[in-house]
Amino acid sequence: MTAEPTGMRSNLVNYGDEEFALFLRKAFIKGAGYTDDALDRTVVGVIDTGSGFNPCHGNMPQLIEAVKRGVMLAGGFPVEFPTISLHESFSYPTSMFLRNLMSMDTEEMIRALPVDAVVLIGGCDKTVPAQLMGAASAGKPAIQLVTGSMLTGSHRGRTVGACTDCRAYWGRYRAAEIDDEEIAEVNGRLVGSVGTCSVAGTASTMACVAEAAGIALPGSATPPAVTADRMRVAELTGRRAVELAAEGLTVDKILTQAAFENALRVLLALGGSTNGLVHLAAIAGRLGFSLDLDLFDQMSRETPVLVNLKPAGIHYMEDLHRAGGVPRLLTELRDLLNLDALTVTGRTLGEELDAAPAPFPQDAIRTRQDPIYPAGGIAVLRGNLAPGGAIIKQVAADPDLLEHRGRAVVFANAPDLAARIDSEDLDVAADDILVLKNIGPIGAPGMPEAGYIPIPRKLARQGVKDMVRISDGRMSGTAAGTIVLHVSPEAAAGGTLQHVRNGDMIRLSVADRVLELEVSDAELAERAEQDRTQAAPRPGRGYRKLYVEEVTQAEEGCDFRFLQAETPRGTVPRATR
Ligand code: FES
Repeated sequence: MTAEPTGMRSNLVNYGDEEFALFLRKAFIKGAGYTDDALDRTVVGVIDTGSGFNPCHGNMPQLIEAVKRGVMLAGGFPVEFPTISLHESFSYPTSMFLRNLMSMDTEEMIRALPVDAVVLIGGCDKTVPAQLMGAASAGKPAIQLVTGSMLTGSHRGRTVGACTDCRAYWGRYRAAEIDDEEIAEVNGRLVGSVGTCSVAGTASTMACVAEAAGIALPGSATPPAVTADRMRVAELTGRRAVELAAEGLTVDKILTQAAFENALRVLLALGGSTNGLVHLAAIAGRLGFSLDLDLFDQMSRETPVLVNLKPAGIHYMEDLHRAGGVPRLLTELRDLLNLDALTVTGRTLGEELDAAPAPFPQDAIRTRQDPIYPAGGIAVLRGNLAPGGAIIKQVAADPDLLEHRGRAVVFANAPDLAARIDSEDLDVAADDILVLKNIGPIGAPGMPEAGYIPIPRKLARQGVKDMVRISDGRMSGTAAGTIVLHVSPEAAAGGTLQHVRNGDMIRLSVADRVLELEVSDAELAERAEQDRTQAAPRPGRGYRKLYVEEVTQAEEGCDFRFLQAETPRGTVPRATR
């Protein structure tokens, strides 16, 4: 059997004459000044997601330089190439709408180019999921490198960081607790440097989860973006990529069911972003694994929240790094992990933890005896309002609202919410339940982070800080509140949510894991008939049409159906662990 061609000889363009295709390829790239010695080496693709519109990736030039140094120190030939870059604040209508497009770009460029391994450099919320989805499907050796967190800032003597404090200060501004001058001042203080958000938002969550899954180097998740530690991690990542190519260690050998279970465990122990669950479902789906929400809930009930990070705790990512980062967290969780899971180092997780630094006293990562929250940080809800499931991050909710029955105050969609939420005429009281429809994967489309429904201004002024809020959308990991998300099926897919009316009673019981609309089946069937005639017109062309027609619901990761693996290989978590 002849070996597969590697390096510059791989993926030759189809001219019907392979030697000519190689001759032509080398002629072109030699125009950039390379020698045959360089071109004959292992080729490591370095994926550049730098963009002037992505300050979370603002250290990309330095990272690429460090990765390339590592590749060359290991005798390889690094070649950088760009893909789409997504930043949360610069991706209209929402970055989630574009995540699958970025994953397709990543997958197809890895497939197309003559690379023996790739370094995926990402950081901002959707970029790491998109890269891992694409790399999982592309089937070549790959290693994740995150850009690292931003530094915190300081406002009038208080440490602040994006974006939990962005929301906290904006909430105070809406409640007239701070004035125009202070909100303008704080706007320049929240983001201390380039890098990703400094709390347990989606970017931090995915960084830690990628390390826990073994697809990024141990200790690589937490060094802030502008530190020497971050650059050293980049160099080491480049070095390791050359070895990955030689070993043929493809993504599917690392991202196994055991690895996904470790990732889900860390998502929970971190008090991480609920978006992490959607992204892990999407990445797992590329490898044939489906997320089982009920088994995840079971895992949640036996996993304490240990990481003392905002919004559930008080610290920032730089504190988590100083406390020992993910290796320290994994050491605390050791007996709950699959220690035989292979990591990108070529060693098992257990072997890596044996080599981890000894624990020392600190406050950012709690012990099992002294958790931030005992268990069940993210709970899965079921009931007639969410037969396909819904979730609530109870660790970030008001404990007094976790068992609640209230009157629905309904908003038809995001524009309706924007138009009426601050109206003095809005018929709403503090113990009502705010319901927002049509912000799901199809409805918005793109499932925006609009599930963090603001407290109506007239109630905010009275001092109301939290209410039960329900939607088919998502919420930023930097946000907090008693907020039910990912209601499935979504309203636009004909879910019960579409048929909720003002004044209906809804029961939320996190203890019983129930989300129930107290309306009879007969009445719901009648409403379904009425609502059928009001379905929104479908988009006519382009990526939007593809998106709406192919996107799956939250529990399947909002991936496109045609991008999922063709052969099912089981669930994550597994039924018997
Ligand atoms: Fe990029 Fe928060 S906006 S990580």
